[in-house]
Amino acid sequence: MQIETSPKKRHEIEADVEIVCVVDKNLEHSWIEDKELLESAGFEGGQDETCFLPEKRKLYVGSDSLHHDDIRSAYAAAIRALRKTKAEHVKTGLYLGKCAAQNVKAMAEGMIFGDYEYDAYKSEKAKHPIKKVTISCEDFNGKSLDCEKAKGYVENAVIVARATNYTRSIVNTPPDDMTPEMLALKAVALAEANDLECIVLDEKGLEAENMGAFLAVSRASDHPPRLVHLAYKPQNAKFKIALVGKGLTYDSGGLSLKPAEYMVTMKSDKSGACAVLGIMKAVSELKLPIEVHGIIGATENMIGGNAYKPDDILKAKNGKTIEIRNTDAEGRLVLADCLCYAQEKVEPDYLFDFATLTGACVVALGEYTTGVMGHDRTLKHSFSKAATNAGELTATLPFNRYLRKLIKSEIADVCNISSSRYGGAITAALFLDHFIEKEYKHKWLHLDIAGPAYVEKPWGYNPAGASGAGVRMTVKWFEQILKQAEKEAKTSTH
Ligand code: BES
Ligand code: ZN
Ligand code: ZN
Repeated sequence: MQIETSPKKRHEIEADVEIVCVVDKNLEHSWIEDKELLESAGFEGGQDETCFLPEKRKLYVGSDSLHHDDIRSAYAAAIRALRKTKAEHVKTGLYLGKCAAQNVKAMAEGMIFGDYEYDAYKSEKAKHPIKKVTISCEDFNGKSLDCEKAKGYVENAVIVARATNYTRSIVNTPPDDMTPEMLALKAVALAEANDLECIVLDEKGLEAENMGAFLAVSRASDHPPRLVHLAYKPQNAKFKIALVGKGLTYDSGGLSLKPAEYMVTMKSDKSGACAVLGIMKAVSELKLPIEVHGIIGATENMIGGNAYKPDDILKAKNGKTIEIRNTDAEGRLVLADCLCYAQEKVEPDYLFDFATLTGACVVALGEYTTGVMGHDRTLKHSFSKAATNAGELTATLPFNRYLRKLIKSEIADVCNISSSRYGGAITAALFLDHFIEKEYKHKWLHLDIAGPAYVEKPWGYNPAGASGAGVRMTVKWFEQILKQAEKEAKTSTH
């Protein structure tokens, strides 16, 4: 599906169908020409409700407001409905709310999401009849937006939405087909396509880097581990950022084996790594002036005669010893070594990690919300703001000195699980904190995406399965810090 903008008015554009948005159930708006027909069809214009009038060549869709979240959702619903028709060329207008840029982007994003379906393993493939969407720069409220600007917004949104779908599809791939080696090959393919630097470490490489924690987790798997280090290095970089992703292509729990009903969906334990891949794809295509490094710890957590065990003591890359009391708390072990690697090799201005780290985070916040943790209030706040603007849900979970004590070990530097059953999302982050050097404490954010990364039922414009959580909010935060830096540069020259 291609999305283009046009300076022409809506009625001047030739298309099979027009999408018309009904805002706040108000059928009186000037752009709604089929009020009686809609009413007789029982259409009320509720959020995401659609009504196709083939004889009028119109698809009406309801949106509660002009807020970008509602618009995104409505346009996804509109495209989903139109995929059941034969329409190939669709047109629509602009609905400019408070922020024109956000609304145009939300519209394009919603449509790309509405066209997404993971069908790689279905004999009968999903239908994608819509080939082209033309967005008229004429606004329904009579306002109009500079068409060049609109074009730029749409291009930006298409890149970010496609990167999100790319992340979704890798996460959705079954574990026997998306092994650590395959995930590394995906990264290599992305590096080739988008002109990124790429280093892949195998077991020998991990040994050379003294990654005793990562190696222990991977030991009982027949599929060898991989550490991937991607780098996008534009010439005009204003910041240097390292992103670390948990890439458990399968988490059986290891010897502390998961119960059967908790093991299903654990192919999604690689979602952090896949989000990092999606972000690398997006920033390189958007050509953002930021140097971005993506570091992925890819492995399986399996059982076997050589499996690492509760009672083992491991040594991480920074020399710290870790008492293992539960082999299912494996993500933090892989991340520990990868975080050390990122600080040593990249020396970043900001260091973020993305991980489906704890069930506790899902219990705390529900399935749809990312847990944001770190030492720096301003950083947490600015990231959360970007997430909201990107249409992703976040909540910050606070550290405190009492929770920190719960991961103390009698016989090693730190224990891999807490001694309490409560506060598991935060104690996991406090474990990671042991592997953050002093100078990076205020540059680091931990994003627990265990909830939103993979939900088995569709929610809003997200399909059942992987959502691509992390991609949109991080790209938005990048854009936000660039804008901020530009503003500061301007005021300092005045
Ligand atoms: N991958 C899981 C966390 C998870 C749970 C992700 C549910 C997505 C949905 C992680 O490795 C894990 O098993 N964590 C344990 C930690 C515990 C042993 C301290 C958990 O959350 O139960
Ligand atoms: Zn686990
Ligand atoms: Zn895990």
